[in-house]
This record gives sequence, structure tokens and C-alpha cells, in this order.
Amino acid sequence: MGSGSAQAPLFEAMLAYHSRTLGRFHVPGHKARPEMLGQGASFYERLLALDVTELPGLDDLHHPEEAIEEAQRLAAACFGAEETYFLVNGSTVGNQAMIAAVCEPGDLLLVQRDAHKSVIHGLMLAGAKAVFVHPRVDEQTGLRTGLAVEDVEEALRRYPSAKGLVATCPSYYGMGPDLKSMADLLHAQRKCLLVDEAHGAHYGFHPKLPGSALSCGADVSVQSTHKMLSALTMGSMLHVQGPLVNRTALRRALGMLQSSSPSYLIMASLDLSRCYLQERGANALDEALEAISKWREQLALRPRWGLVCATGEYEMDPFKQVLYDNTGQLNGYELKAELERYGCYPEMADADHVVLAFSLASRQQDVDRLLEALDRIQGKIGDECRLESGSRQENRREADLFQLQERISEPVSFTFGTIHDKVEAYSYIALDACEGHVAAEMIVPYPPGIPLLYPGERITPQTAASLRRLAASGAHFQGHNITGLGTVPVQTFHGQNRGHYCE
Ligand SMILES: Cc1ncc(COP(=O)(O)O)c(C=O)c1O
Repeated sequence: MGSGSAQAPLFEAMLAYHSRTLGRFHVPGHKARPEMLGQGASFYERLLALDVTELPGLDDLHHPEEAIEEAQRLAAACFGAEETYFLVNGSTVGNQAMIAAVCEPGDLLLVQRDAHKSVIHGLMLAGAKAVFVHPRVDEQTGLRTGLAVEDVEEALRRYPSAKGLVATCPSYYGMGPDLKSMADLLHAQRKCLLVDEAHGAHYGFHPKLPGSALSCGADVSVQSTHKMLSALTMGSMLHVQGPLVNRTALRRALGMLQSSSPSYLIMASLDLSRCYLQERGANALDEALEAISKWREQLALRPRWGLVCATGEYEMDPFKQVLYDNTGQLNGYELKAELERYGCYPEMADADHVVLAFSLASRQQDVDRLLEALDRIQGKIGDECRLESGSRQENRREADLFQLQERISEPVSFTFGTIHDKVEAYSYIALDACEGHVAAEMIVPYPPGIPLLYPGERITPQTAASLRRLAASGAHFQGHNITGLGTVPVQTFHGQNRGHYCE
């Protein structure tokens, strides 16, 4: 596999500029002089030379005709798309643009309920309405595994005017359903499948990995190349295929939402990251997969620690290893903090688990460090069992509560009003008393950045319980600090809850 002699046209054009330039009379203002960055100089020293702008030969992201066009064309061929757009503001901007391209104000879209906040923001920007479809939950772990086709089918039956579906696949935990039947179902009704594949840029590049969303038939997929491949942070791609998504609208949306000064360092890293993968094919992932398989073997010899395994009902990314303490002595947050104490920084934690993100760059030495840290943790705290009835109950308990909710929501509207809401229209209610009130802000535990509540959503007993659990376990919230303040921002209009966003 792999083409052997892949090109990186954008990076090469930037190098050519660097070798011919004698004087920089253009932005950026650092003029490639690292000393302008003071104590950061030694780190930025070589990078600044290539931090350039739309100069002759370097093309224009918003009207690509030369090196960027060629780099995007090569990326499309590599990832199996008809067209690929480079994103310099992460999958965040890709999610927003794909929704804006598909929906006019007032249009209806089916949306997987545990979508990233950028999807909700995309709905707000487009003025679109969402019908939320709740994902299924893994019996054993309580983790969300993705949408069931029959739920999407039912949602389409109830809301035949929906333009399509926004699915998240894989999840932050590397879980997801086979999207093929979802694509077939939607396409049979000429509706589009838009996939937030932020965590799946590597999918389809190795026999041990699930296929990509595009290979399953998605019309658009948005991938954070920076998360699971090797681009710089914020470097992402939007891929498109088929006749259902209006490309002109997509380009316009990206033109509005992306910076007019896109970072060439980020764009070139997308070019180089694709080039690396293309040159090596599946071999690019072999060494990392080998290290992960050694990690699993070695961990199996340490019964204290467990790993979540796929059950066959959903696919699981081998690069996401979901670790837990079998004794129940350390919850997910505590285990994460312990690992950090020994210099190993996981991607995130929940009440029960720690998510370890590996990638094609992971090596045996990373595994060795991790195992050493786990051994030291065990040596320090011993392994008495604190819970009598076994461990990992928190997610399961929460999942049971959510199972009581309707799988498919009523249509929900989001407007710019949400942004302009005045602070005086808020009150801050104690966490213990928030049930039944209407959220005034998006409530986002981070990571994973999945809103537990969107503005205008009524707080159900299940969500209130979930908020309390998260706060008690010390979860970090973006925006209002629920853990620290013990309150929730709710709407108060003339002394009443307004709740006008839900129809
Ligand atoms: C599922 C999902 N979608 C989208 C995003 C946004 O991606 P980015 O950070 O590339 O903007 C994230 C970020 O964590 C995510 O987890």
C-alpha cells in the first residue's frame, strides 16, 4: 500500500518562497525574526520562516488555483472524496459550514443528540431546527455507541421534511455504528448524511480499522486531521461527494466562517500529513498498532486494570483505549489525576473511565511509560476494594436514567436570540433545585464538549441528576462553572421560565 513518492505541493511552494525571498514587506509582522517572540524564540525559530501569507505562488484558500488547489485535490484522492476543503479552524468550522450549506433558516435536520457543541452552533448560525435522535447505549459500560438505524428510520417517518442527518462517528471513545445502512436509508429518500468524523481521520487506512464515513456513503465528512493524524492543532478537512450537497453553498459558508488570513503552517501540515499517509499506506499505522497490541497484552497481565472492549454491536477504534480501575478504588477522574502525577496525560476521563488517545505516532516507549505509571499507582495505593458491589456503575446508572427519555425529540429551534440574550434574563439556581427550569446557556462538560443542555432546553430529572453527578466528581464545565459555583444558569422572563426555543 502507499504510493511511494507522494508530493506535498503546498509545503514545497512555501519552501520555494522561503529560498527566494530577500525582504518581507508583507504581513505577518514578525518578519520571520524569532527574537520578536522573546522567550519563545528558540521554539519558533524555524517555524516563523514558513508562517507566510497569500504571496505569489502560494495560492489563496478562498480561491484556490495553484498549490492549495493541488494539495486539496491530492487530499480528496487520498481520502476517497470528490472534493476536499482544508479547514484552519478545526472540525468546528467544518461542522458549522456543512449545516449552513444544507439548511436554510427554518429547515429541519435530524441530529444525533450527543453531538459536539459545534453542531449546535451550526444549527444556530443556519437558523435551522433540530430533531434530536438519542444514541444507543452499551449495556455494560453505559457509554453511548451511536445511532440505531431503526431510530433514524422512525425519525424520518415522523419528520419527512428533514433535510438529512448529522451523525457523530466515531465518538470520543472511538465507538460508532456501521454507517452504511444509515446512508442507504437516507439516500433512498434523497436526504443527506453529514458525518462529524472528527475522531476518525485515520479510518479506512488499515485493515484493523473501520471504514471511513465516505466509504460508507456519507455525503460530507468532517475530520480533525490534527486529532488522529499528524496535522497541527486546528488542521482539519471537510470531504464531500455525491449530488446532494450544494457545493456553491458549502464554499460560501466556508468563505464566511474561515479566516481571511488562514495559517499556512496549518495548511501545510495538512498537506504533509496526507503525504506521509499516502507514501506509507497502511504501514504508516503498523508500528503504532503493534505498540497498542503489546499494551493490551501487558495490561492483561495486570488484573487490576481493565479495558473497554467492543461487543460486536458497534465498531471500536483501536487507537482509543478506554481504561478503568477494576477494583473501583479510583474513579475515572482520580485515575486520570494519578496518571498525570506520573507524567502521563490522558485525553479525558468520565466518572468511570480514562480515555487514552493513541495515534499513528504512538510508540512502544509510550506504552512502557504508561505501564510504569500504572504499576507505580498500584504500588502506592494498594488494591483494596472500596466498592462492595463492583466498579464502573456511574455511567451505567446515568444511562439507565436516560433510557427513560424519548428517543426522538420534538423539533427544536435555535436562533441568534440565544447569543443576544441579556444576562438580566438569567438567574442562577442551586444545582439541587434546577430540575424543571429552562437552561439559559449551553452547559458543556469539557472534554468531551458535548452539551448536556442547550439554551432553551428544560432540565429533566435525568439531566439534573447527571449535572449533580458530574459536579460531585469535579468535572470541568466550559462557560458557567457548575462544579465550583454549585448553580445552573436558567432563564427567567418576567419571573417565569420562558422556554420559547422548544416548539
Ligand atoms: C465529536 C467532535 N466533533 C467536533 C469537534 C471539534 O473539532 P476541532 O477541535 O477540530 O474543532 C470535536 C472536538 O473535540 C469533537 O470531539
